[in-house]
Amino acid sequence: MHLEENISLAHHTTFRAGGRARFFAVAESEDDLRDIISYARKKNIPFFVLGGGSNVLFGDRGFPGLVIKMNIRGIAYGKEKGGITAVSAGAGEHWDNFVGGTVARGFYGLENLSFIPGSVGAAPVQNIGAYGAEAGDVIVEVSTLNTETLEIEIFSKEACMFSYRDSFFKSPAGGKYIITRVVFGLSSKGSVNISYRDVKDYFEERRNDSPALSDVRDAVIAIRTRKLPDVREVGTAGSFFKNPVVSVYDIEKLKEKHPDVKFFPHGDAVKISAGWLLDHVGGFRGYREGNVGAYKNQALVIVNESGASASEILAFAERMQKIIYEKTGITLEPEVKIVE
Ligand code: EPU
Repeated sequence: MHLEENISLAHHTTFRAGGRARFFAVAESEDDLRDIISYARKKNIPFFVLGGGSNVLFGDRGFPGLVIKMNIRGIAYGKEKGGITAVSAGAGEHWDNFVGGTVARGFYGLENLSFIPGSVGAAPVQNIGAYGAEAGDVIVEVSTLNTETLEIEIFSKEACMFSYRDSFFKSPAGGKYIITRVVFGLSSKGSVNISYRDVKDYFEERRNDSPALSDVRDAVIAIRTRKLPDVREVGTAGSFFKNPVVSVYDIEKLKEKHPDVKFFPHGDAVKISAGWLLDHVGGFRGYREGNVGAYKNQALVIVNESGASASEILAFAERMQKIIYEKTGITLEPEVKIVE
């Protein structure tokens, strides 16, 4: 185990903000992970598992314990069974390289989730989703290390309890498991899902009514590039808040004041577009205050414009929450994991 000290977390997160990790170690294997966890337990210090660092904001005081950079690699394609191929990927694999590989091999299931920053291991935690698809739709099982017993435990799809940007792994009981590997069930004879507005518009504009699998990946990459900043160039963690889920009654009330509000059915309730609220109710799109701003093409995306501190980013986010609450009574909940 190679232990580093006082490592800048701004260098390990796409927000490019936050303090330092007291200790930092990279896990290349399950055994590495066991060693690292045993060390943290022996020293009685907290630990935090970091994937691609694209959905987390550390406070300026950093993390007082051990940050574990997940780097377990390896991708394996199983034999096809009943039309489905189990594809296993290490938690430390780069998400979009993995997705690109599945699409290049002709497997359907992950194409709408193209170009999402981050690692494979983070996908089940918050059940990443985009353009009408969620990772949980195609996850078959998740391997984890139980940090109390140091045994590997496998979670079936059902045990993962996936829902909108949520899973068992985000619950208090899920906190003791570290995801090491994820198995996806993909199909080589699937069909594309182009029902999401932006994707549909993309193909309509190009008069393509039967896009191929790889066309959908290209479309999603083009749409994301247009709407979202590139985390390689700009400090951001994508959508800062979740889209709030409210009752049908609440949306009717809201429509009285904001007849154009954008919302989508979500079970018996509705999911309101937080981006729309922040843009049209809050006036935040493209608004900048000091070193922090809301992205010019997507108000839900907070951008670290130039060397912002975590406190500046959090103050900006709190301001957004306050204004939306005052104007609509809706509480925006962070989607980004805030570690203070
Ligand atoms: N909108 C505005 N102004 C804005 C932003 C959005 O009017 O500034 C409107 C759009 O015109 C559109 C609607 O709001 O009608 C929805 O916008 P968009 O399609 O961009 O999707 P979203 O609901 O804001 C969610 C995810 C994104 C994901 C997209 C596409 C959440 C919190 N965010 O955003 O995920 O890429 O859908 O599926 O669910 C992320 O999680 O980091 C992320 C980027």
